[in-house]
Amino acid sequence: MGRHETNAARDIAGLIHPYTNLDQHRQTGPIVITRGDGAYVEDDTGRRYLEAMSGLWCTSLGFSEQRLVDAAHRQMQALPYYQIFASRSTEPAIELSERLLGLTREFGFDKALFANSGSEANDAAVKLAWYYFNATGRPKKKKLIGRVRGYHGVTVMTASLAGIPSLHADFDLPVPGILQADCPSRYFYGQPGETDAQFVDRLVGNLEALIAREGADTIAAFFAEPVQGAGGVIVPVPGYWEKVQQVLKKHDILLVADEVICGFGRTGNMFGSQTFAMKPDIMTVAKALSSAYLPISATLVSGRVYEGVLAGSRRNGAFAHGVTYAGHPVCAAVANEALKIYEERDVVGHVRRVAPRFLERLCAMGDHPLVGEARGVGMIGAIEIVQDKASKKPFDAAAAMPTLVQDAALDEGLIVRAIRDTIALCPPLIVDDAQVDELFDKLGRTLDRVLAQARRNGLVG
Ligand SMILES: Cc1ncc(COP(=O)(O)O)c(C=O)c1O
Repeated sequence: MGRHETNAARDIAGLIHPYTNLDQHRQTGPIVITRGDGAYVEDDTGRRYLEAMSGLWCTSLGFSEQRLVDAAHRQMQALPYYQIFASRSTEPAIELSERLLGLTREFGFDKALFANSGSEANDAAVKLAWYYFNATGRPKKKKLIGRVRGYHGVTVMTASLAGIPSLHADFDLPVPGILQADCPSRYFYGQPGETDAQFVDRLVGNLEALIAREGADTIAAFFAEPVQGAGGVIVPVPGYWEKVQQVLKKHDILLVADEVICGFGRTGNMFGSQTFAMKPDIMTVAKALSSAYLPISATLVSGRVYEGVLAGSRRNGAFAHGVTYAGHPVCAAVANEALKIYEERDVVGHVRRVAPRFLERLCAMGDHPLVGEARGVGMIGAIEIVQDKASKKPFDAAAAMPTLVQDAALDEGLIVRAIRDTIALCPPLIVDDAQVDELFDKLGRTLDRVLAQARRNGLVG
């Protein structure tokens, strides 16, 4: 057996794969990635792919940034681990808190709480919000608002907040106390003839009605990604955030901006909250924080929230929350180096230079017979696979058309991700114009091949 076959057999024998059809996987097996080089990865058969999803929306600096490797190595040698419970600390964790608070100065965050993953950062945001409202004498303010198509992670609480039904099915979720607001996509949820402004007014009216029904005094926080990623790359309709924030402010509902995908340049600003003029009370970051080279996340809180948490700690003696690897010195050292690179190489400026080409080529995909909508901002985008453009009708689920596109793209040497009927694109931020062209040339050929096959099968005219 070759290395490829051996890997596949061992994988099938031993692993449960996240977000994978486990039964199908027993037949198809894995693609085993063995090497990375810039925006490309290579598998154990030697095939090379342009990685147009940055792994899971995260390797912003590509797959071979030596400075991150060196930063990890240096810190491993100096101090491979120490913890930050009970007033212990490490220099990388201190430096990272300073860097994050510096980068987010305009939002007025006061403190950073570290963890390992986006899920934990959002889960901590829930706990901080509860702790804050208890400490400030409003113990009834506990419910949380998520959104249709929202994604915030997989812990019991963050999966409950998701507006994606598969995260709930058979997991006995959501837990009580979760409310759901609308998704700000006019393509999916707009009514015929509705303008952007009318759509926003309808959504905001629904939000007001939800709050009135439940009672503002029972609602703690509104969780939202500036651009919804895993729900299908939903760029909010213009005017949405301005009006939603007015409602939240009026009812003293905390805004938690989940910047796990949008943070660190993805939308053409350092944070998605800047792109959409959001003023969150809490912000969560992960993924590109370390360009995903090591797991680390942070929950950033405003002075007001921190003062409440401090008051709670005065009452309880200790702020009884934290994970073993919080602020892990090696992960923090890599994150510090990533943030230095973003600054020194002006990664946001680079995104602004390359994004127009990315968005132009993305938009052009909208003309393809299989594409109902092409949407994006900065260096994140998606195309919507449809059977019929005029009615936006998707293919029958049994045709598994988006998965066919995803698999056909692999044959072209391109990694994209199928999410329901959406093909998501989120390339490393380091790609240049030529690589953007390569991405869309490959995607175009992929769509043409899938279309030809669909025609042969009588699925389209
Ligand atoms: C917006 C958003 N929040 C949270 C998460 C969860 O992060 P993690 O998978 O690191 O727990 C993700 C993961 O994709 C995400 O996209």
